[in-house]
Amino acid sequence: MRLDILTCLPELFEGPMNQSIVRRSMTKGLVEIEIHNIRDYSTHKQKSVDDYAFGGGAGMVLTIEPIDNCITALKKERDYDEVIYLTPDGETLNQGIANGLSLNKNMILLCGHYKGVDQRVRDHLVTREISIGDYVLSGGELAAMVLADALIRLVPGVLNDESSALTDSFQDNLLAPPVYSRPAEYKGWKVPDILLSGHEAKIEAWRHDQSVALTKKKRPDLLDE
Ligand code: 6GU
Repeated sequence: MRLDILTCLPELFEGPMNQSIVRRSMTKGLVEIEIHNIRDYSTHKQKSVDDYAFGGGAGMVLTIEPIDNCITALKKERDYDEVIYLTPDGETLNQGIANGLSLNKNMILLCGHYKGVDQRVRDHLVTREISIGDYVLSGGELAAMVLADALIRLVPGVLNDESSALTDSFQDNLLAPPVYSRPAEYKGWKVPDILLSGHEAKIEAWRHDQSVALTKKKRPDLLDE
C-alpha cells in the first residue's frame, strides 16, 4: 500500500509516522508513505497556498492550483484508487470503511486547513471524503494520521499473528474481551479461573460471551448495525 499525504504542515507527520507499527511496515517494504508539502507546488512568488474566500467572510481557503499541481504530478507516476479529503463533514470513519480502504494499492490523502479547500478541489479532484468523528480539529493532519494508522495495521504481514487485526474490537461489531497477564493474583485481585484452565474451547466461548456482554453494556448501538 502506498499513501501520498498532501499537507501544508509536513512537520506534523515526522513523529507519528516514524514509530512502532507504522515504521516497521515501511522498513518491511509493505507500506510506503510520502508526505508532500503543498507549498512546494505553489507557483506564487511567496509560495502561498491560501487566499481570501470569494464573497467575503469564512477566513482563508486553500487554493486549487497547488493542490491540483501536486495531484497531477502524482497521477503521472501511478494510478490512484482514491483521492481522500479529510474533512469533518465527510463520512464518519469506522472499521468497515477502514477494512474496505485497506484493500487499495495507492491512495492520496489530502489534509484540509484553515476554513477548508476551494470547493472545485472537492468536486473535481477528490473521490472520497472522510471524517474521524463529530468534533472539529484545527486541520486534517491528525485525521490523516488516524486513517493511515487504521489502514496500515490491516495490510497483510504488518501485524504478527498474536496481534492479528481479526481479534480487534469492532472487527465483528463486537468489543474485544478483557485480557490478563501474570501474576494470576495481585493484591488479591484474581484472573478469571477459566483463563487458567487450559481448556481452549471453553476459553473461546467465555471470550465471546464477554464480548457480547461488554458490547450490550457499553456500545449497544453496534449490535443494531
Ligand atoms: Cl477529517 N478534519 C478536521 N479538521 N476535523 C475533524 C476531522 C477532519 N474529523 C473530525 N474532525
